Amino acid sequence: MTTYQKRYAESLMNAFGPPKLTLARGEGAHVWDTDGTRYIDFLGGIAVNALGHGHPALVEAVTAQLKTLGHVSNFFATEPQIALAEKLLALLGAGEGKVFFTNSGAEANEAAFKLTRRTGRTHVVAAEGGFHGRTLGALALTSKAAYREPFEPLPGDVAFVPYGDQQALADAVTDETAAILLEPIQGEAGVEVPPEGYLAAARRIADEHGSLLWLDEVQTGMGRTGRWFAHHGTGVAPDVVTVAKGLAGGFPIGACIALGAAGELIQPGQHGTTFGGNPVACAAALAVIGTIEQEELLEHVTVLGQKLRDGLAADPRVTEVRGEGLLIGLDLADEKAADVFAAALAAGFILNNPTPTRIRLAPPLVLTEQDAAALLDAWPAILDRAGL
Ligand SMILES: Cc1ncc(COP(=O)(O)O)c(C=O)c1O
Repeated sequence: MTTYQKRYAESLMNAFGPPKLTLARGEGAHVWDTDGTRYIDFLGGIAVNALGHGHPALVEAVTAQLKTLGHVSNFFATEPQIALAEKLLALLGAGEGKVFFTNSGAEANEAAFKLTRRTGRTHVVAAEGGFHGRTLGALALTSKAAYREPFEPLPGDVAFVPYGDQQALADAVTDETAAILLEPIQGEAGVEVPPEGYLAAARRIADEHGSLLWLDEVQTGMGRTGRWFAHHGTGVAPDVVTVAKGLAGGFPIGACIALGAAGELIQPGQHGTTFGGNPVACAAALAVIGTIEQEELLEHVTVLGQKLRDGLAADPRVTEVRGEGLLIGLDLADEKAADVFAAALAAGFILNNPTPTRIRLAPPLVLTEQDAAALLDAWPAILDRAGL
């Protein structure tokens, strides 16, 4: 055990298990540990470090805003907060709407969950395998028994249906349903892509019953899939979209975005936050969005993501590769995901093993061709070393 691991174990709650490394600094898609060993970061803080590490545009925006105005209460407005809300609505391209800023994905979902209660209904239909966060409300919307059971009873009236099954969704939604909640691609499940037409069916079913369609784009949003939002391109217009993770490239922020009439559901006194909408976090998000636009990263993400998927799938020990853009999941021929993670780390690559058979990649959107090629070159040896 290193000194850091010992100090960590003695001072931090054991919520995450022992840390794999102690990281000291980063640049682009590279990070270095406290011993000076370099790793190529294919996890990006779990789909967070959109611009990688230490991007000058992000550093400058945060520094300049902190020097100018670091925090105000939500009794007051700031320009970055208004500009970011306007920008998110413009990127969504779904007409008028209203934004509530939070500090995380779970809080964005809490805000949306409360908003759905303002319809006068309480029933929510969510998907098995979905993940929406760890607060009691977000957990109530998350199906995984191991996460839920130690904390029951959770806020109720949530039904779970198999993800991707239109008929199951149609059967579960009634005139009492406040909202259907879905991830456009399930991230934590190991990058589960629904069948074509699933989101459109969810929209139809929601309309039939006067329910809201709420899309959790916390992991899939903000360019991760090569589109600003994963539901873009499906022709589906949601009522509520939640985002976080990559929004400010590592600066904590989330947003609950309600479109059309849903934007009026929360009224004064019904929700609040001290830090949500903090001007530094909003300036960081504006810098991330501006950089994605200026560096034309959506196109880069689409092209590089396809190359990575093709390269990873070329090895027969990989039985399936899924995902869009730089949100990539793959299935291994055997329950060796933990060994693949360890072998990759030993070879200088940070991956993620969300299930015993699945590997997930969610690298910075600025990942270079060379970084991607380095992983593909090392891939067969990583699988050998993992005993596959
Ligand atoms: C789809 C989705 N929703 C919500 C969350 C929770 O976000 P946070 O960890 O910022 O609370 C996550 C985190 O992994 C997520 O993937």
